[in-house]
Order: sequence, then structure tokens, then C-alpha cells
Amino acid sequence: MQYAEITGWGKYTPPSILTNDDLATFMDTNDEWISTRTGIRNRRISHINTAEMSTLAAKQALARAGLQADDIDMIVVATCTPDLLVPNTASRVQQLLGTNQAACYDVSAACSGFIYALQSATAQIRMGMVKRALVIGAERMTWFINWAKRDTAVLFGDGSGAVVLEATDQPLGMLESKIGCDSSARDILKVSNFGTDMDRYVSPPSALDIDFEGPEIFKRAVRGMGRATEAVLSNAKLAVDDIDVLIPHQANARIIETLQQKLKVDDDKVMININKYGNTSAATIPLALCEAVEQGMVKPGANIMSAAFGAGLTWAATYIKWGERVTPINDYQQEQQHCEQTAMQLIAVAKEHCLKGQQ
Ligand code: UT7
Repeated sequence: MQYAEITGWGKYTPPSILTNDDLATFMDTNDEWISTRTGIRNRRISHINTAEMSTLAAKQALARAGLQADDIDMIVVATCTPDLLVPNTASRVQQLLGTNQAACYDVSAACSGFIYALQSATAQIRMGMVKRALVIGAERMTWFINWAKRDTAVLFGDGSGAVVLEATDQPLGMLESKIGCDSSARDILKVSNFGTDMDRYVSPPSALDIDFEGPEIFKRAVRGMGRATEAVLSNAKLAVDDIDVLIPHQANARIIETLQQKLKVDDDKVMININKYGNTSAATIPLALCEAVEQGMVKPGANIMSAAFGAGLTWAATYIKWGERVTPINDYQQEQQHCEQTAMQLIAVAKEHCLKGQQ
């Protein structure tokens, strides 16, 4: 029997930080509302696109696994903010990594995308079809933001996370998972006016804003993630006390708290970084997993539970068994992708456009 151990982990967090106070300079909001209602204080604004962010996280994950890009058989990118419709983001990542062989595809399941992608890659390794895979979650969410809409503009951020999976005989990696979708509610979270649904010859194209019903998603998220997590625990024959680290999707600190209370998991086992990055959709789980390892929360042999939900409304939960190694094989000095512009400068044109549209 083959398993798919996580042997490398990496992330990229863009250097330009947009604070709640920055947002309050041009929108009717304030730090108090945003931080108490969502737990978010900062979010990152990327000056590079999704494939480049993916590549930086992937390079770090590869170095930490002690591998070269040529060692990889498959690259999967979970994203809902691809650079292009065609070709996919994964093929651009492969090109940027300077290699030319691996299978490449994207997974579109919004915030649940990384767990969907991890399940897909794990299954292929366990079937013996693939030996090593890079699984990436990356998003440039702020590209979609309407800076005149305070209900969504404060929530999202950019970033990426990546893991390397390698075939092993040991029972490690994703050992259980449950993914699903509540499509009856697919209209409550969407970016309209794009794809074959749009009128191609309307000029100028309509705005690509995130539309959503926050409170309804909130309720369904708590229910969906809770049920999925309980199902995974039960299938894995694990008790809540067996969980060493809980890595929930970071959409709202109150959703995380509700899930934590429902499951009765201790505070020190729950990974929270929403304060720094906001909701980075499919990048959230790999970014949080990477930071959990870096911060020493993930110990050798740890039992990790993770759960997510997102547009679709997709939902997902997984149980991951970590291996013995929690330290990198190689150090990786990330090309820091220095950015000359502040976050406010990076969003200036979009912001002006959105605020003008509001008048
Ligand atoms: O990962 C998938 C995507 N994630 C989500 O969809 C997140 C799920 N939903 C949520 O996290 C929460 O529902 C929100 C954070 C979006 C909203 O929190 P809420 O506690 O559900 O607030 P609400 O939508 O019920 O709004 C309460 C009030 C409203 O004012 P009135 O009508 O009571 O006067 C809003 O207009 O808060 C107002 N409000 C704001 N005030 C200041 C909404 N956004 C803001 C804001 N600043 N940014």
C-alpha cells in the first residue's frame, strides 16, 4: 500500500501590507469593526500574479523537501484567480520552475480548493500513478475587490502556499478526507460576468466583483465544516483529543471559534493567522500549514485536522498524519520579490475606478 507523505512546505506572502486603518481612509469602516467582526488586522496586496506567487511557494517547498523541480511528476494549483483562462496556472508554474515534464492542472473549488487538490494528488500517488507531486494553493484575491464595497473589500488578501507529496510505504500524509458541495447555495458567493455566461461583446465589460451574502455563508460554513470534520474523525477512528493541530480555513475568526467550540479543541492546538493575511481563499490552508510547521506547532508524527468551505458552496475536511521530519532538508533564501510600492499605491488605480463607479 502506498501513501503520500508531505515532505516539503512553503509559502509566499507579498511584502505590501494593507492595514484596517488604510481601508478606513477611503471607506466607511474602522479597525474596531473589522477586527472584532472578522479577526482581520492586515492583508497582503500582491504586485505579482498568481503563477509567480505559486512558484515562490513551490521553490521553498521543493528546497525543504531536498528536491529539484525535475523530480516532480505532477503540479496541481488550486486557485480561483488564475493568471489566464487558458492555459492553466500550473503550466506557467512549471515553466517558471524551469522544467518541462510534469503533468499540470488547476483545481477550481474556491477556498476548499487546496484540500480538493490534495485529495486528488494523494489519490494518484496512492494508486501508484505518480510518485511526487507539488500541490499549491495560490490566490490574488485583491484583483477581484470592489474597493467601494466595504462588506467584501475588508475580507480578502493575496498569498500562496505549497506542499511536496512523495510516495511512501508508511501510513503518512492525507489518510482521510471528505469533500462535497452544497450547490443549492451556489449563488450566494460568486464573481459574475465572466466566462461563457457573459455577453462577450458588451463593452466595456461589467465589473468583476465578489458578490456574497456574508451572514448566510457564515451559518453554512460552520455547519458544513463541522459536519465534514466530524465525519473525517469518525472515519479515521480518532477522538477530538487525538487532534494535535487544527488548521481551519481563515475566513472569519468567529467562524473558527464556533468550529473550535463545536469540536471542543483547545486554543493552543488551533492555527490562526487571519489577523495577518485575511481570507486568502485556496492559499489559506497551505499557508497556515506552512506557518504551523515553521512555528513548531506541528511536531513529529502530529495528527493534523483541516477544514474549509468556499464558493460553490464547496466544503472539505481532512486528516493528515505528519512524518518524523519537521525541519527543512535545505534552507531556502526566498527571492524576496522586493516591491517598491506600498499597498495603497498598488490598489490606487483600482480604488479610484471603484469609487468613481459609486458616484
Ligand atoms: O471563505 C468564503 C467567503 N467568506 C465569507 O463569506 C465570510 C462569511 N461571513 C462573514 O464573515 C460575516 O458575515 C461578515 C464579516 C462578512 C459580516 O459580518 P456580520 O457580523 O455577519 O455582519 P452583517 O453583514 O450582518 O452586517 C452588520 C452591520 C451592517 O450594518 P447595519 O445594516 O446593521 O446598519 C453592515 O452594513 O455591519 C455593517 N458592515 C460594516 N461596518 C463597518 C458591513 N461591513 C462593514 C465594514 N465596516 N467593513
